[in-house]
Amino acid sequence: MIGLFDSGVGGLSVLRAIARELPHHSLVYFADQKYCPYGPRSADEIRALSERITRFLAAQSCRVVVVACNTASAAALYPLRASFPDTMIVGMEPAVKPAASATRTGKVAVLATKGTFAGELYTRTRDEFARDVEVLTVYPTDWVERVERGEIDSEETLASVRRVVEPLLDAGVDEIALGCTHYPFLVPLIEVVTQGHATIVDPSDAVARQTARVLAELGLEQDMHKSAIFYTSGDVGSFARVLEKLTDYKHTRVFHSDI
Ligand code: DGL
Repeated sequence: MIGLFDSGVGGLSVLRAIARELPHHSLVYFADQKYCPYGPRSADEIRALSERITRFLAAQSCRVVVVACNTASAAALYPLRASFPDTMIVGMEPAVKPAASATRTGKVAVLATKGTFAGELYTRTRDEFARDVEVLTVYPTDWVERVERGEIDSEETLASVRRVVEPLLDAGVDEIALGCTHYPFLVPLIEVVTQGHATIVDPSDAVARQTARVLAELGLEQDMHKSAIFYTSGDVGSFARVLEKLTDYKHTRVFHSDI
């Protein structure tokens, strides 16, 4: 089985991509909504939360765990690999590299949480791949909460997207990298604002392809028991409602877990 986790519903953008890439695999998703958002939390706290969830997923026979959260990847990716040598850990990193290589204006934007920008993973990726371009960094303050509520198409959310994206376009940005797994659910609204003047870079498909490569290396590409199980440390009813809104999973059972 492939395990995935996030602070909440954001990692469903990665789950969606993995389900497309690997349609016959069994997926287990853990939403740590009791502690959502992760963005403002300390790296130590996120690391401890990530370890508990990974232990839970490994105990459910997940040989591969996808950290479907940029903030948790920033704080915990390397420690998780060290603590769980028998589990393959796939992580997220802000898509600075594709954005930096595609820009024509020489200006790219990365949208992510405070925690992601504070991590070494971001600094290293930027220094390695974006030395010759200008990188504008923004952490939208209310997007995670809006997506958590399933509020992905309201006028207020569009206004919030406009407040973040318009100044980037005015500054000449032509590539916008989404460095938080909640943000792909706002792509339709971001496109309303960009009107084709900037490309939105969502790394979920690349992570899904990387997951497929890891499974192939383990000889596990043959799983034919397509299924998906969802856990939340928060409220089951509200997770189930937003799951239905954001994905094609309908009438799926959701379990509560405090781990
Ligand atoms: N989905 C998350 C990320 O990719 C976490 C957002 C949050 O909990 O602050 O960073």
